Amino acid sequence: MTTENRQWQLASRPHGAASLDNFRLVTAPLVPLQSGQVRVRNRYLSIDPYMRPRMDDRRSYVDPQPLGEVMQGETVGEVVESRSPHFKTGDHVLGMLGWQLYATAADTELTRIQHRSDVPLSTRLGCTGMPGITAWYGLKHIIQPRAGETIVVAAASGAVGSVVGQLARQLGARTVGIAGGARKCAIVKDEFGFDVCLDHRDPHFPQALLQATPDFIDGDFENVGGPVLDAILPRMNAHGRIALCGFISAYDAKPTPLNNFVCALLNRVKIQGFIITEHPEIWPEASTELADLVASGKLHYRESVTDGLENAPQALLGLMTGANVGKQLVKLA
Ligand SMILES: NC(=O)c1ccc[n+]([C@@H]2O[C@H](COP(=O)([O-])OP(=O)(O)OC[C@H]3O[C@@H](n4cnc5c(N)ncnc54)[C@H](OP(=O)(O)O)[C@@H]3O)[C@@H](O)[C@H]2O)c1
Repeated sequence: MTTENRQWQLASRPHGAASLDNFRLVTAPLVPLQSGQVRVRNRYLSIDPYMRPRMDDRRSYVDPQPLGEVMQGETVGEVVESRSPHFKTGDHVLGMLGWQLYATAADTELTRIQHRSDVPLSTRLGCTGMPGITAWYGLKHIIQPRAGETIVVAAASGAVGSVVGQLARQLGARTVGIAGGARKCAIVKDEFGFDVCLDHRDPHFPQALLQATPDFIDGDFENVGGPVLDAILPRMNAHGRIALCGFISAYDAKPTPLNNFVCALLNRVKIQGFIITEHPEIWPEASTELADLVASGKLHYRESVTDGLENAPQALLGLMTGANVGKQLVKLA
């Protein structure tokens, strides 16, 4: 059995966009397990937008990622050694086990994955896991779309956005996706079934949004913020709802001003920010529903899989610039 671990640490905090020198790859010894601990061989690492703002030293809903410590992140893996009565070798588990090949964790930090042969393990980090559950909650609990309403979703080809659009269509809504570039827009329409998809890089994007929303917008699942949100605000219907899920345009750069924020008042919009980890009560129901949809072929998903732990930083930098389609993962072979 190996006695060495490989892990990425945060070496320095970014000034502006993150870069490869903000990360350090280290080799560390694997120490013997204590009672109640479990050793996990991580198989997939989830790369998520929240990792970028956590690299900054600023007040947020969680403490910043500490310097010199293993980069935080969710993984799925298998138990290779256990000193806990609750886990045995070979169990598949999910946890915040970090950017590393092996994790040594208390058994209380792990969730056993009930293996379903019709739902791939990797989706536990994507459409049937945290991002899918985020989509499910923000759409069903905050936007609560009614049949015939128009729902707009930015980052529509991504892990969260692709699920939002499909669930909204299943509820009878008209879906307008927003994505970067013609290739992504084609995927959003052809694979994820949105009615329309607009390219936010098009200089005429605000006019295109106006034409694509003749009945205005009833619900905005907001993943991006910045100029995209600024174009959406004047198109909101009276008493529209915005599920404020993410603001990725401001994670790597200074936020741009929202010139149209007054339209939130004029259109009497309900805006609700949310963080999905604060709603653990809905996770089992949402996850089971999403897994059933995947198994029955009613929920389509894509994964961008980067090979090897050594490439994890590039995967995060790529996510910030739109290199991914669907859920960004790192395969830890
Ligand atoms: N509130 C919560 O609990 C919660 C949970 C999970 C995720 N989130 C948020 O949900 C959002 C989506 O997360 P995800 O995991 O599904 O990521 P994702 O959509 O799979 O990947 C991020 C995408 O954001 C888009 N993007 C990046 N910079 C942009 C910019 N300046 N303007 C417009 N689009 C930009 C890119 O797509 P394009 O190529 O299409 O531009 C990129 O592919 C993020 O804001 C994230 O923070 C929130």
